[in-house]
Amino acid sequence: MTIIAAIDDFREAARRRLPRFLFDYADGGALGEHTMRRNVADLQDVAIRQRVLQDVASIDLSTRWFAQTVPLPVALGPVGIGGMFRRRGEVQAARAAARHGIPFTLSTVAICSLEEVRAGAPDVNLWFQLYIVRDRGFMRELIARAKAQGATALVFTVDMPTPGIRHRDLHSGMSGPGGPARRALQAMGKPGWAWDVGLRGRPHQLGNLLPVLGRDSGMNDYIGWLADNFDPGIRWRDLDWLREAWDGPLIIKGILDPVDARDAAAYGAQGLIVSNHGGRQLDGVPSVARALPAIADAVGDRMTLFADGGVRSGLDVVRMLALGAQGVLLGRAWLWALAAEGEEGVDRLLSMLEKEMRVVMTLAGCNRVTAIDRTILAESLTYHEERLT
Ligand SMILES: Cc1cc2nc3c(=O)[nH]c(=O)nc-3n(C[C@H](O)[C@H](O)[C@H](O)COP(=O)(O)O)c2cc1C
Repeated sequence: MTIIAAIDDFREAARRRLPRFLFDYADGGALGEHTMRRNVADLQDVAIRQRVLQDVASIDLSTRWFAQTVPLPVALGPVGIGGMFRRRGEVQAARAAARHGIPFTLSTVAICSLEEVRAGAPDVNLWFQLYIVRDRGFMRELIARAKAQGATALVFTVDMPTPGIRHRDLHSGMSGPGGPARRALQAMGKPGWAWDVGLRGRPHQLGNLLPVLGRDSGMNDYIGWLADNFDPGIRWRDLDWLREAWDGPLIIKGILDPVDARDAAAYGAQGLIVSNHGGRQLDGVPSVARALPAIADAVGDRMTLFADGGVRSGLDVVRMLALGAQGVLLGRAWLWALAAEGEEGVDRLLSMLEKEMRVVMTLAGCNRVTAIDRTILAESLTYHEERLT
């Protein structure tokens, strides 16, 4: 049994429970996985100023995004096929998010459909993530379904005009020749998962895509559908229709460059997620921790800025906020917690993050999430240190 004290423990517990193809699908990134590793390492290198005697008797973790108050500056980000990690996994994660009052983002390529998630988690603040696919009519239909289920924000992912190249998926049997047989073999070695998800977690379909893929949509269709249907030919001006189809908050996900950030603002998006897709798309691009400050300088006064990539603790959440984000999305962290302990695991993860944030903010002498900015970073002392030496 793995003792769970930190997010890395959830990762270890997930590794024990999941068949290899699923663990590696979540754990891996593009090509040499350098950007994926840098997301974690660069964030961990961000040093916080320790401050004392600043009256931190009460800590306020709440903030406001698009006129909504959230009790914690954290959302569960979109991940594909989350329902393969635990039985009807997206519903379980959404229920945990609802318990903490934070948004849950449902991926286009989730196992559970918008309708299933809403029925299973009636109170959740539901965000819907949309990919750019060739069939515009289908995108409109998905937006209409998201509206009908009361989604409060549309997360429009723009960093996947084509899927990244992920070597681990070939090695593991997630994709490539012999995949189904290898996956079945791996599942047999993980009876806990095989019983919970393999047998009782059916149907293993991409719930939101059933109207286009039909009842037989499964893991093979997943990879194939992604590769065939993403649209690399699209430009900002081709997206005018989207502003009309969705009149709520629009958050563009997958921005890493200040020029693209300005374009997103000019396009009329209210929010941005600074993200490199967890290092799963273009290996070799900067980490989110490195990219974020310049984007905050470019558009932070006009847009609500979110960031994801490499967040593995409450301390990391505070670091992202200090670098310029107003909110942080979790990716692998919640998948690992879900795989390890289901809804209870995601609940525990969010409680852990909250507790860690409180301790970090207390020791940094900062009592409000909305007051976190670059002044809480130790780098702001570099000048004085240089003068002393
Ligand atoms: C297994 C997995 C599946 C993902 N699927 C999606 C997806 O369907 N849509 C999307 O916009 N991003 C997707 N992402 C990217 C995440 O939303 C997020 O950007 C990334 O995981 C953040 O990095 P982190 O996992 O290191 O926190 C996925 C990430 C992982 C790990």
